Amino acid sequence: MMTTQVDESVQCGNAQDAGQLMQMLSGFWVSQSLCVAAELGVADQLANGPQSTQALAKALNAHEDNLYRLLRALASLGVFRELESRVFELTPLAGLLRSDVPNSMRPVALMLGRENYTAWGKAYQAVRYGESPFESAYGMPIYEYFTKNPESAGLFNEAMTALVSNDNASILASYDFGQFSTLVDVGGGHGMLLSSILKRYSNLNGVLFDQAHVVNDAEPILREAGVESRCRTESGNFFESVPAGGDGYILSRVAHGFSDEQVILILKYIHQGLSKGGKLLMMEFLLEPGNHPETARTKLMDVNMMVFAPGGRDRTQQEYEALLQQAGFSLNRVIPTESGIAILEAVK
Ligand SMILES: C[S@@+](CC[C@H](N)C(=O)[O-])C[C@H]1O[C@@H](n2cnc3c(N)ncnc32)[C@H](O)[C@@H]1O
Repeated sequence: MMTTQVDESVQCGNAQDAGQLMQMLSGFWVSQSLCVAAELGVADQLANGPQSTQALAKALNAHEDNLYRLLRALASLGVFRELESRVFELTPLAGLLRSDVPNSMRPVALMLGRENYTAWGKAYQAVRYGESPFESAYGMPIYEYFTKNPESAGLFNEAMTALVSNDNASILASYDFGQFSTLVDVGGGHGMLLSSILKRYSNLNGVLFDQAHVVNDAEPILREAGVESRCRTESGNFFESVPAGGDGYILSRVAHGFSDEQVILILKYIHQGLSKGGKLLMMEFLLEPGNHPETARTKLMDVNMMVFAPGGRDRTQQEYEALLQQAGFSLNRVIPTESGIAILEAVK
């Protein structure tokens, strides 16, 4: 019979620590509550003013008492506010879940609540057996899944647009894009970053490169920024080629979704396309060593990549530098930005 020995040198936490751990363990209760509210469209329904859960349930075809319990819980976290018994209104946080506001977070909530949550349910298999949770859940890599599921792809691209919008100001504040004449954004999604750069620098021309089903939906964002006459879209596969002739290339949040071999291949095509004296700007969050809580965001995103994007991983500056070198680039400098995303400037 096995006896259990307690190692006295290891300090177990107290009740307060247990409370902190419980908060971490139940983190998905909060995110799933938000995702359900987003899925139902509660915030859109409250856009014109407070409503009772009875009216909400009727309009949203939901179960009144369970909807009340969900909103009561979220209201205690600052998302929605209960004005009087069973009557709710929007708060600034809840307003971001409306689908009709600029940079709506609703697509982020839907993406996280659907495929991302399903894949995370299989995270154990990744760590135990090295399997890809997304592939075991959906039977194919993520970008192949998106080409076959247009609604999910649309949500993903809108989510990316909302997330990148939050970093745009700090990227623009940290780097002088005026030195370029043609900027090519490789895997640029719906063009939110490129259009905000072109809007700021009126002499600059842009090329937005992504898969056909993605760039086909970019026009509203380019038009909204008033840059459509200076920005052409090109579709293709960056594992086969990228548009040639730019003196500046952007590769933003693409590399962390792919394996080292795949990233080197993309970088080699960019290297071929980049004109003499040009620069590549890779934008990624960098993994930092140590246990500091500030390093947790990128480390958790790295675990998310392990779960969501087969082969994907976040990397340290040194790891990105090694990939750049293998594709013929040298890392010139790393520019930190206020939002935390780093700009890695590389030259041929
Ligand atoms: C994580 S998103 C990043 C989007 C944008 N650059 C940003 O910073 O928000 C990765 C992008 O790579 C694109 N992508 C994935 N595989 C691709 C391929 N084989 N060829 C071209 N683009 C691809 C996706 O469609 C998506 O827009």
